[in-house]
Amino acid sequence: IFFESPSNPTIDIIDIQKCADLIHEVNGKCIVDNTFASPALQQPLEFGADLVIESLTKYINGHGDCLGGAVIGSKNKILNIRYYWQETQGQVLSPFNAWLILRGIRTLNLRMARHSSNAMKIAEFLEDNPKVTKVVYPGLKSHPAHELAKKQMKNFSGMIGFELESVEASNRFIDVLKLIKVGVSLGDTTSLIEYTSIMTGIDLASWERKSMNISNTHFRFSVGLEDPEDLISDLDQALKQI
Ligand SMILES: Cc1ncc(COP(=O)(O)O)c(C=O)c1O
Repeated sequence: IFFESPSNPTIDIIDIQKCADLIHEVNGKCIVDNTFASPALQQPLEFGADLVIESLTKYINGHGDCLGGAVIGSKNKILNIRYYWQETQGQVLSPFNAWLILRGIRTLNLRMARHSSNAMKIAEFLEDNPKVTKVVYPGLKSHPAHELAKKQMKNFSGMIGFELESVEASNRFIDVLKLIKVGVSLGDTTSLIEYTSIMTGIDLASWERKSMNISNTHFRFSVGLEDPEDLISDLDQALKQI
């Protein structure tokens, strides 16, 4: 069983312990993509996962300037992966990327605390705005898995999902943002927002997007480290224009 928690792009929270226990009953393996939380906020091995996947490109490097990935688990599980993917296929990090990532990791804890506190303020602002029809952030009491998020995460990270009232409003919104950049990566120092159905969701058929709960007015917001008041005033001026 392989899943993300929080998930991309709908910010669902999956019960890691429950999934691991279930799959172990049939001798399967539980693999968790921890990219949206980072190891500073969630450590799936503690909840019974066998392997953890981290996109180093995102929060762990944290500065949006290199690509990398990691698989974490016990030595016997990793050796096989290392032999096949690294020794046979040659998939290793370049030294410069490794250096950038190690440098980024030094501030991971500090950054995740700020990403989380900024995102909480923004999620509350969005939830109070009548032009925003839905806000999904694990730190909000309205998130269906808020209690579970509190149990398995140390903080709620910087990823918010939200929806506006119409496609026209969504197109206008994305055009009039000034400070917040439009882009499909996440976990950078700078905020990045994506209009999901026409960006990362563009390759999916509309029925596939529907089945994944991605509406035509869904946005995925990677809240950066800027002053939260600046981010809120940018969102506010954009929402006033739709
Ligand atoms: C949850 C999650 N895992 C993995 C990846 C892949 O990351 P990378 O860009 O390092 O290949 C992404 C990319 O958006 C992601 O959102």
